[in-house]
This record gives sequence, C-alpha cells and structure tokens, in this order.
Amino acid sequence: MHILITGGAGFVGSELAVRLSEKSHRVVVMDNLVRRGSESNLERLARHGVTFVHGDVRNPEDFENLPSGIEFVCDTSAQPSVVSGYSNPVFDITNNSLGVVRVLEYARLNRCPLIFFSTNRVYVVDRLLELPRREGATRIEWDAEAWKKLPVESRARGFDPAHGISEEFAVDGGQRSIYGLSKLIADAACQEYAHAFDMPIAVNRFGVIAGTGQFAKLDQGWVVWWAIAHYFRLPLKYIGWNGKQVRDILFLEDVCALVELQMNQMDRFRGDIFNLGGGAENSLSLREGTQLLERKLGHGTTITSEDAVRKADLPIYFTDNRKAAKMLKRHAKVTIDERFDRILEWIRLNEASLKSRYGA
Ligand SMILES: NC(=O)c1ccc[n+]([C@@H]2O[C@H](COP(=O)([O-])OP(=O)(O)OC[C@H]3O[C@@H](n4cnc5c(N)ncnc54)[C@H](O)[C@@H]3O)[C@@H](O)[C@H]2O)c1
Repeated sequence: MHILITGGAGFVGSELAVRLSEKSHRVVVMDNLVRRGSESNLERLARHGVTFVHGDVRNPEDFENLPSGIEFVCDTSAQPSVVSGYSNPVFDITNNSLGVVRVLEYARLNRCPLIFFSTNRVYVVDRLLELPRREGATRIEWDAEAWKKLPVESRARGFDPAHGISEEFAVDGGQRSIYGLSKLIADAACQEYAHAFDMPIAVNRFGVIAGTGQFAKLDQGWVVWWAIAHYFRLPLKYIGWNGKQVRDILFLEDVCALVELQMNQMDRFRGDIFNLGGGAENSLSLREGTQLLERKLGHGTTITSEDAVRKADLPIYFTDNRKAAKMLKRHAKVTIDERFDRILEWIRLNEASLKSRYGA
C-alpha cells in the first residue's frame, strides 16, 4: 500500500513510517519539522526508503507536492504538549485542528482511509477530578468502595475503578486544556467527515506513549524524560501530588502494532473511537518510576517536590482498553520492566548525543 504519514518525522510518525516500510509498504512522510529534534529522524527515514516531503498540513498547496497514488493516510501531526498549549493558544488550536481538516480533505479527495492520532486529553479534567480517589503508599488510586456507595445516577459514564476511562467518558462541560481542545476539534472533525462523506476513519485516543528515540521533555514524554534524567543524574521535580500521580504507558511498538491491525480492518470503521493506552496493568506513578530506575541504574538523582498542581493536570488516569481489545483482538503486550530496559539501553547507546542535547 502507498501510505502518507503527516507529522511523520516526529516520535510516533517516524517509527510507524519505518515499521510500515519494513513491511513492504511505500511510505511518504510530510512534516514541517516544527518540532525540535524531528529533523534528526530524516536520515533514518531515508535509510528505510521513506520519501520525505517538507510541508505544512495547514497549507493545501503543500499537498500538491505529494506523489500521486497515495492510498492511505495516518495523521500524526500536532503540537503535542499540554503545557506549551497555554503559551500560544491560537497557534496550537489552529495548527492541531485546521491542519487536520486539510488532511481530511486530502483523504476525501483521494479516497483514502484515515487513522487519526487523538488523545485522552479530550476528556474533561473537571469530571476526572470528581472521581473518588485515595492515596496509597506510592500512588494515588481510584477508590472502588467509595464509588460503589455513590447513587447509580450520580456515577460518571465511562468510568470503572478497575478498568479506567472508556470512550464513553465526558468530553464536554468543563476544561480539558488548550491542547485537549485543539485535539477535540480535530477528533470531532474526523467523526463528522466519516459520516458526512462515508469515509473509513478511525480515531485513536492515546494515553501516554513512550519509546526509544523520544526527544522527551518534562511537559511531554515524561517516561523517557524521567529515564534520561535519572541516567545523567539531572535534577527532577515532583509537581503536585507528591509524585504519586499515576498514568498508564503504551509503548511505541504496541502503538505501531495496533495501527497495523486497524489498517487491515478500515472498512468496518466510520469515525469509530478507540481509547488506546497501557491500561491498569501498565500504570505507574512517578514515585514508582523513580524506584524502578534507581533499582535498574543502582543510583538515583536529586528530586524536589512542589505542591502546586499544573493547570489541567490529573492525579490519576488509566485507559479502559476493552473496546479496542474486543474489536481489534489484541491486548497490548507490554511489560513495563522490560520496556524500561530497552529505553535505558537506547540511552546508553546514544549517551554522547543525549548528553549534549540535555546539557548533562
Ligand atoms: N506522544 C504521546 O504521548 C502522545 C499521546 C497521545 C496522543 N499523541 C498524538 O500523537 C501524535 C504524534 O505525537 P508525537 O509524540 O509523535 O509528537 P511529535 O511532536 O514528536 O511529532 C509531531 C510531528 O508533527 C509535526 N507537525 C506539527 N505541526 C505540523 C504541521 N502544521 N504540518 C506538518 N507537520 C507538523 C512536527 O514537526 C512533528 O514532527 C500527535 O498528534 C499527538 O497529539 C501523542
């Protein structure tokens, strides 16, 4: 198949491009390289025979530079940081939503199925904060007992304390971050196009994605950032919740495997939404991440704490993957321990370049 990956020089898109090219697909990447670090993926893409087109998804004329015969589109382009969304909201909202409408138009005119990379950040933070929780020794947990005591009519849809947040959870009625808003507009546009123009479209709401090759920062890609900071003994800070905040982690290999599975079933999807994450069994608090890295590296780093909670941040989130497991017939095969080994091995292999990138 001839596949276009928009934003394909980034962390997720470039890995997907390489994997699909290894499966004998012809892959074209279009990216404006706005993300610092994306340019360093170009050499790897070229080595794997992936065609690179420098272009901005907001500009319809840039699509004219693409080769003809594209049969499938994956849209991974975005400014993906929650924190930086607040410093330039107009850029983030227009970049992450107008861009997707252009990609949808391209897919419509070229009769391509499309997979959109959305986010769990579309869910309303205020509703997530209302879910009953308690503090354990190393992590915050959802409180199943308190949940059971709530009258049925006041229990939030799309939540189960054992399984996490499903596709049914609230997307309106409160704040979700500027980034979340920008992706919600795009997410809704994908659903609308699927129905308006009978297009095979899947909307994947990913949680935290981690993997080797990630140019992680404190505000985006915290798993790899935590590993890099521990490795080079860079100072870290728990911001809010005393380091007990919990996220589930989906590793990049599993993201690519899930997308490949979806690509073979697109006729079934008309704007179908999938929550894709590591799930309860692959959840981790920052404190637990610290313990794991200290055990693996044999040393720690300096970590301070700040009580103030960042805007739209959450004490706990993990993904209810049951819809994806049922429809895609695949459970993400992740083991956190083994994947951390791979991330540390990647850091070891790239020690010199990472050292200078992170000023270690
Ligand atoms: N990484 C995660 O944990 C995560 C979690 C949930 C959802 N997502 C979504 O997955 C997708 C990929 O994320 P990532 O972590 O690879 O981010 P990334 O920043 O590494 O990659 C995004 C790429 O898009 C490009 N881009 C941005 N705006 C563009 C534009 N207007 N035109 C062309 N290219 C543009 C950037 O240059 C970059 O190479 C994003 O849509 C993001 O919202 C990521």
